[in-house]
Amino acid sequence: MKIAITGGMGFIGQALARRLMNQGHAVLLIDNLSPQIHGEQPSVTVPDGAEFRRLDVRDVIDEPSLFEGVDAVYHFAAETGTAQSMYRIRHYVSVNEMGTAALLEALAKCERRPSRLILASSRSVYGEGAYADPRDPGRIVQPASRTPAQLAAGEWEFRTADGHPLEAVPTREDIAFAPGSVYAASKAAQELLIRSAAPALGITPVVLRFQNVYGEGQSLQNPYTGIISIFFNRARQGLPIALFEDGKESRDFIHIDDIVAGLVAALSADVPDGAAINLGAGVPTTVTDLADALLSASGHAVPVSVTGEYRVGDIRHCYADLGNARKYLGFDPQVDLAQGLMRFCAWAEGQPTFADRSEKAMAELRERKLASAD
Ligand SMILES: NC(=O)c1ccc[n+]([C@@H]2O[C@H](COP(=O)([O-])OP(=O)(O)OC[C@H]3O[C@@H](n4cnc5c(N)ncnc54)[C@H](O)[C@@H]3O)[C@@H](O)[C@H]2O)c1
Repeated sequence: MKIAITGGMGFIGQALARRLMNQGHAVLLIDNLSPQIHGEQPSVTVPDGAEFRRLDVRDVIDEPSLFEGVDAVYHFAAETGTAQSMYRIRHYVSVNEMGTAALLEALAKCERRPSRLILASSRSVYGEGAYADPRDPGRIVQPASRTPAQLAAGEWEFRTADGHPLEAVPTREDIAFAPGSVYAASKAAQELLIRSAAPALGITPVVLRFQNVYGEGQSLQNPYTGIISIFFNRARQGLPIALFEDGKESRDFIHIDDIVAGLVAALSADVPDGAAINLGAGVPTTVTDLADALLSASGHAVPVSVTGEYRVGDIRHCYADLGNARKYLGFDPQVDLAQGLMRFCAWAEGQPTFADRSEKAMAELRERKLASAD
């Protein structure tokens, strides 16, 4: 098959491209080499045998011939920083939503259209995800995002109206969209655009909602996203690691090899029309446990402290229900966190060290009152 990947020079695009080429597919990578990901003077290596076109995804509308005769498209090009999206609103909407619109229009102009369009969506569309009251575990509730006032008061966890703690449970795909950030809203919009336009063009849309993807090849210089690379980069330079909130917030970390397996399966799987599919490990890990595991895997010893700081737009917990992924994609994650972190650290140690910019990113949020005061 001939397969196009927008955002194909990014973390997930590169890993997928290599796997597809190993399987004998021809691959076209479309990417503008965004400086936030690739640095001001990008030095990238295009995988041997892949075709690369440096182009903003919003400009593919003028180059529909790129997709002529392509069998499937993976749409990854996006801005991905949750906190940053809360003040670079127009830019996030432009790249993520207009980029998707431009892609769909380019596909509409093709004579020989791809048969499948696979979108990298995100668990962020769920906002806080699914919870249950342990006294009534069968009833799923979906709390609204925490307000700046709740965060300022240190009310990290959710409670029932009568003050009983709610517990996070695996989030299924059929709960409502509840985006708590502009990034999340733009991913939900991408889903809606693709679901509404692709079938009319004879293209099957497949929506995959990733949890936190990590592993070898992820950007080590983007201070706006990627908790594992941010912590690693600091630890490697002897800088202390600060945990937001009470350090007990959790994420579902999924290794890149497992995500690639899910993405490859999505190329040919029989997926019901309009279905969305979670891809994650299905296991929550607190940020404190993550920091400990990462330091132990990296061999770097730096102080870890819980700061009580917070960022507006961050969720508290969310982890995937993998029922659909298992059923439709035969998805079965193989790389556990300890093993994945060892692999990530071994790779990252061999990469250049980048100046830590996470404090600058936090200062930008504080300036805009999108994070706790200093
Ligand atoms: N990594 C995760 O944890 C995660 C989680 C959920 C969803 N996703 C989604 O997966 C996709 C890929 O993520 P990733 O981790 O590989 O990110 P990444 O930042 O490593 O890669 C994104 C790529 O898109 C390119 N890009 C950015 N703006 C562009 C534009 N205007 N035109 C063309 N290319 C542009 C960048 O140069 C980069 O190479 C994104 O859509 C993201 O929203 C990722």
